[in-house]
Amino acid sequence: MQQTSQMIDPFGRNISYLRVSVTDRCDFRCTYCMAEDMTFLPKKDLLTLEELDRLCTVFVEKGVRKLRLTGGEPLVRKNVMHLIRQLARHLDSGALDELTLTTNGSQLARHAAELAECGVRRINVSMDTLDPAKFREITRWGDIDKVLRGIDAAQEAGIKVKINAVALKDFNDREIPDLMRWAHGRGMDLTLIETMPMGEIDADRTDQYLPLSSMRASLAETFTLTDIPYKTGGPARYVEVEETGGRLGFITPLTHNFCENCNRVRLTCTGTLYMCLGQEDAADLREALRASEGNELVSNAIDEAIGRKPKGHDFVIDRATRRPAVSRHMSVTGG
Ligand code: 5AD
Ligand code: SF4
Repeated sequence: MQQTSQMIDPFGRNISYLRVSVTDRCDFRCTYCMAEDMTFLPKKDLLTLEELDRLCTVFVEKGVRKLRLTGGEPLVRKNVMHLIRQLARHLDSGALDELTLTTNGSQLARHAAELAECGVRRINVSMDTLDPAKFREITRWGDIDKVLRGIDAAQEAGIKVKINAVALKDFNDREIPDLMRWAHGRGMDLTLIETMPMGEIDADRTDQYLPLSSMRASLAETFTLTDIPYKTGGPARYVEVEETGGRLGFITPLTHNFCENCNRVRLTCTGTLYMCLGQEDAADLREALRASEGNELVSNAIDEAIGRKPKGHDFVIDRATRRPAVSRHMSVTGG
């Protein structure tokens, strides 16, 4: 199947990238992401893996070229490898350029070889610190050794790994140079992310928020950073670090809005489509999917949703704004 159509939003942006949160559940409880005691989406509302495949396939037929599975933790969804195997046919047919994953790495060791076999060439692994005790503190439940073994397995399988770290004030800010040397030393890019006000957590986000503009300035005292036009289809802007020979990315939703180039929409595990990470507006695709065996209804529902994709988000983090910009957690729509 060679796709020929395109989805163009009201601001002329070509929507070619779908992120799918295959589960909002996770085996970690990162303090900036979740409350310790989380309420998850009701299991009865979940799309089956077959329905997820069908829905993703409709998106591919409509012009999506890049698919990222996220969560929650995508690898804790039961039989997720079955879905990945199915979706891989779109790589084989040439309809999809890339099938990728954002993972916390906890289950990666046992899945890495199969992911590579399916045609997954790159993955993002979230890792905010290399210190085992701090790793436990930030993830509440995570074991860094498992994640490190997962990264080893992925690299051995020939998958390119990018490390994502959320920059957190007084937590990992002083460690970023070490994290970067470690990542670059293993041939991995590192991308830093500003914490976004999504969902109620136990902590105060104003205490956690670290503007990456100041992080970049302090890194520039030690390292030679050169802007490069490198792009991976996501919102990161990259620099090359002369001293390490590696790439460092910045995802800066707060200090530098990147919405003008937004090419993506996000699907939840219950079939809700969010047109923007930072807005509440959403479209239910599950009903249209289940209403008929053909895909015309759901295809129309997708067109209607893309037709109201907003211009951008309204994230702010300050002492005056106490409430998160959106009530749902990152784990519902995926990063
Ligand atoms: N702000 C920024 N990044 C977040 N992540 C989870 N919650 C937040 C948040 N509120 C990150 C994770 C992972 C990616 C999917 O999103 O650490 O790297
Ligand atoms: Fe899980 Fe990722 Fe959220 Fe951490 S940031 S709790 S690993 S979904």
